[in-house]
Amino acid sequence: MTNDRIPLLIDTDPGVDDALALLMAFNDTRHELVALTIAAGNVGLEHTVANALKLCEVCGVDVPVFAGADAPLLHPALDAAYVHGRDGFGDTGYVPSKRQAEAEHAALAILRLSHQHAGRLLLVALGPLTNIALALKLDPTLPQRVARCVVMGGAVSAHGNITAAAEFNIAFDPESAHLVFAAFPRIELADWEAVLAHGLPHVDVERWLAADSPRARFYAGISTHTRAWSRAGRGERWHAADALAMALALEPGGVVEMLERPLVVELDGRHTRGSTVIDWNRQGGRADNTAILMRYEQGHFERLLESALAAS
Ligand code: BDR
Ligand code: CA
Repeated sequence: MTNDRIPLLIDTDPGVDDALALLMAFNDTRHELVALTIAAGNVGLEHTVANALKLCEVCGVDVPVFAGADAPLLHPALDAAYVHGRDGFGDTGYVPSKRQAEAEHAALAILRLSHQHAGRLLLVALGPLTNIALALKLDPTLPQRVARCVVMGGAVSAHGNITAAAEFNIAFDPESAHLVFAAFPRIELADWEAVLAHGLPHVDVERWLAADSPRARFYAGISTHTRAWSRAGRGERWHAADALAMALALEPGGVVEMLERPLVVELDGRHTRGSTVIDWNRQGGRADNTAILMRYEQGHFERLLESALAAS
């Protein structure tokens, strides 16, 4: 029997919106989820690994989980516990999963699986890019074996969410982001500004969360804190960043508009460290290395979310 499903590897730092993206991947039949590789980011590695394992357990998904980087490559960074809760999953006090992470380091797992699925692998990065940067340092030929690389990160016109100009995933570890954007010939990017343009009405999210499924019940619990935080500060729409990146990854047919441009990561700026600088007018002579998501079919995005939450 042939396996036509596309191998999917998700590098992530769960995180409430990461969890929603993972539910979408768990609910997809055209991709075969081969691994979750985990980094520190939204909260510390101990929590992001535990959260990944717990989500798999709740969903009955038996995918291997690999722990990776517990800090950015060079400079310490602040986490996003104020958004996601101290444990990254809304501090619900859930009973930890019985499963453990694999012994192999995430960066080594990325390389091994890139060989196993050479030319077909869909790599989706939903957190700081530290694990992928480490893999690249060990083996710079990694991009040659990756069919598509989709990243949630950046703010393409410098409307940041963690500083004035920078988005969290890139700002957490700019050196890693620089290595990754310099190495991959074409990264498909769902940036923070695309996320803002694809907000989800809280009333609809609440309706989806009322579905009679263990997934919806668990997700309703872990997202309560962050949805309340978001509603208080950002109004009637909720912005699930990693879920938009996952929609782009799983169902690129929903894309309405993408723009190809050169992107570099600012490492030195006094006010702009960690920002993604797009050469909109292609003045610097660099090759386009990023396909920037400008618009995704909103109804399609919302249907993917509703169905991921209702799945059993
Ligand atoms: C990104 O930062 C994290 O807090 C989210 O999980 C998402 O990956 C949004 O800027
Ligand atoms: Ca994330």
